[in-house]
Amino acid sequence: MLRLARWFAIVLGGFVGLFLVAFAALYVIGLGRLGATVPNLAIETVTIPTDSAAINRGEHVATIWGCRNCHGADLGGQAGNPLLSGTTLLGSVSAPNLTPGRGGIGGAYTDTDWVRAIRHGVRSDGRGAVLMYSAWALSDADLGDVIAYLKQLPAVDREESPARVGPLYVAVVGAGLISPAASTIDLDAPRPVAPAAALSPVYGRYVSTMCLSCHSERMYRSIAELSQDEFSNAMRSGVMPDGERFSPAMTTPNFAALTDLELEAIWLYAQEAQAAADR
Ligand code: HEC
Ligand code: HEC
Repeated sequence: MLRLARWFAIVLGGFVGLFLVAFAALYVIGLGRLGATVPNLAIETVTIPTDSAAINRGEHVATIWGCRNCHGADLGGQAGNPLLSGTTLLGSVSAPNLTPGRGGIGGAYTDTDWVRAIRHGVRSDGRGAVLMYSAWALSDADLGDVIAYLKQLPAVDREESPARVGPLYVAVVGAGLISPAASTIDLDAPRPVAPAAALSPVYGRYVSTMCLSCHSERMYRSIAELSQDEFSNAMRSGVMPDGERFSPAMTTPNFAALTDLELEAIWLYAQEAQAAADR
């Protein structure tokens, strides 16, 4: 009996030891990935307009791409990302203040810095931003408008507590379950095509690239099952036609801001993708 207990202790100890070694390995890999800088990144020149039509369009694009979900309604920064709020093991990530106010980056950022951060997911100090989606697919025109809007934001004075990533989060990054946006972009790939804003499947595909921060490419399936009205109503109300409520991830204010044209185009794209898959 005693011998059995001893063997049991040895085997259990072995497992715990293996687990700790694996965790330590993932932790080290994760630290490397999180601290990785992306030096000598060639930043393309994007024309930044200054007219009010462009600023208004930029405000809309910033909203539907979810910038406010993380950086706060006034883009003055938000502590404790809702997706990752302050526990000891996970840590907490705050989305910085984007305005020129105290604690904000807006005053010091150049046009190149904005493009590097939003399109490539790389901060002005060269480090890949953690937990920031990349807006790689945004067209030059839309990105230019977003930056035009950001550059004229009123100052908000709000200092953030710096991000503190916990050991579990580091290990999750080490295991490749979450990756800093900068490391997921193929820098040599050609720039995605930017279709004209029109009621067309290609435009729907373009608008729905922001959905892919959470959904897989096969997202079209569940949209194609709905009628166009059912889809638009669900996105606006947060309730599916069968009465099922969306989870908090799907009820952030950016979805309600999608225009009729954008929603209809996404639906058209889903129909076309489903038809192609059925063929
Ligand atoms: C899922 C949450 C999330 C979304 C959505 C998001 N951000 Fe961020 N963003 C962050 C976090 C967190 C950081 C800080 C990352 C770090 O310090 O590693 C950040 C960093 C940045 C930075 C770099 C700041 C610096 O310190 O150099 C800029 C600029 C920025 N975001 C702009 C935007 C814009 C514009 C959008 C919308 C197109 C956007 N973000 C969408 C979470 C988000
Ligand atoms: C922040 C993450 C996130 C983003 C961004 C996001 N979704 Fe979702 N979505 C979810 C989650 C999680 C679910 C499943 C749980 C639920 O029903 O709320 C979901 C469910 C759905 C559903 C219900 C059917 C299903 O697959 O369960 C539809 C339709 C949908 N999303 C459409 C969209 C569209 C269109 C966009 C872009 C305009 C989008 N989502 C962007 C997280 C997200």
